[in-house]
Amino acid sequence: MISVVGLGKAGLPLAAVIADSGLKVIGVDVDEEKCRMINNGVNPIPEEKGLDDLIRKHGGKNLIATPNYEDARDCTAFIIIVPLFVDENYNPDFRILESALRSVGKILKRGDLVVVETTLPPMTTETLVRRWLEEESGLKLGEFYLAYSPERIMTGYSISRLREFPKVIGGVDEKSGKIAYELYRKFIPNLHLVSNARTAEFIKVIEGCYRDVNVALANELFKIAEDMGVDFYEARKYANHEYCHIHEPSTGVGGHCIPVYPWFLIKLAERKGRFSDAKLLRTAREINDEMVKYWADKIVLACMKVNKPLSEVKICIRGITFREGVKEIYHSRNLALAKLLKDKGLKIYVYDDLFTLEEVERLGFKWIEPEEADVVFDSFKLKITHNDGSLKY
Ligand SMILES: NC(=O)c1ccc[n+]([C@@H]2O[C@H](COP(=O)([O-])OP(=O)(O)OC[C@H]3O[C@@H](n4cnc5c(N)ncnc54)[C@H](O)[C@@H]3O)[C@@H](O)[C@H]2O)c1
Repeated sequence: MISVVGLGKAGLPLAAVIADSGLKVIGVDVDEEKCRMINNGVNPIPEEKGLDDLIRKHGGKNLIATPNYEDARDCTAFIIIVPLFVDENYNPDFRILESALRSVGKILKRGDLVVVETTLPPMTTETLVRRWLEEESGLKLGEFYLAYSPERIMTGYSISRLREFPKVIGGVDEKSGKIAYELYRKFIPNLHLVSNARTAEFIKVIEGCYRDVNVALANELFKIAEDMGVDFYEARKYANHEYCHIHEPSTGVGGHCIPVYPWFLIKLAERKGRFSDAKLLRTAREINDEMVKYWADKIVLACMKVNKPLSEVKICIRGITFREGVKEIYHSRNLALAKLLKDKGLKIYVYDDLFTLEEVERLGFKWIEPEEADVVFDSFKLKITHNDGSLKY
């Protein structure tokens, strides 16, 4: 019997896929209402394709959800997938992870396996995670097994990702890796055993770094193209080929993952005084975060062409989520842009297909139909339009 700790957007699809492979799963989550829904066969994440069917089929049967760790005492494997946040200085805040692992440590038995899936700064599993488990269980590594396997899902497509996308797993020691690999093979078809947990942690983090650096490159090239009067999108279309994949420019990089993971490596390097080791990663972060100011300046310039005092110009930010089509505003640069302009004393309004008027107001903004604004900034198309229809970009 397997326990999945943390039944969120990442953990619940995994728990459902394991249950669907025929294994019995005890899901542990502090959210009692969520546990009740799952046990009644109701999917708490309806936007996740294919999850409704799996929860209806296995909820309360092969997949039992509980807020009590004690209920998972008979499990022999524990998969941990709770959130890890960063503080305002981008240092990881391990409190939730530590609490979950110490709770697992209290019920851990000789021969059990623990696999962490939460994205972590490399080397966390072999250091902190091992220490928390050893302290609480009184066991030593070797008496229990410990591995890491990064979650590589994409919200909305998690089930198909788990069934098709390559997944890696690595042990803190060789035996842990082998045991974890043998277990995961039962429900993950495309699985690869890598040298160790540290490598598996690194794989996940560098994926995010790649994306961040390449978005920064696109943003920098976009600015240069604008200055030269070159249509960036036309240039990008013909520049890209098999070996050149220039990304889309944007207002920056948002969400829980990509803007955070580079900091794991930047902090690791800088804590050792090795500032040049992560120079590109830091610069990319800065370029992407500064895009909000770049677009704010452009919008103000566009507003100055409207025949009204600047403070009277109605500006609509169209699209406030961090990514198009995903109702998530965590670290949204589009929302940051709206806030920056609002803080300048400008008349900022918001429109987003995914948000109601009430939801927009709860975020501290006024809602507007784009046609009623003087200037509209489309956050995803990166277009500034005047209400007379003239297009600036
Ligand atoms: N969502 C994604 O697209 C995604 C993709 C890749 C990796 N991840 C990784 O998965 C982690 C979790 O992300 P998520 O999107 O599932 O988060 P989420 O907020 O949707 O869910 C987290 C769940 O953990 C539960 N929880 C919190 N503290 C707990 C505790 N002490 N014990 C048991 N349960 C607890 C919460 O109640 C919640 O249901 C992320 O931090 C990230 O490392 C997520």
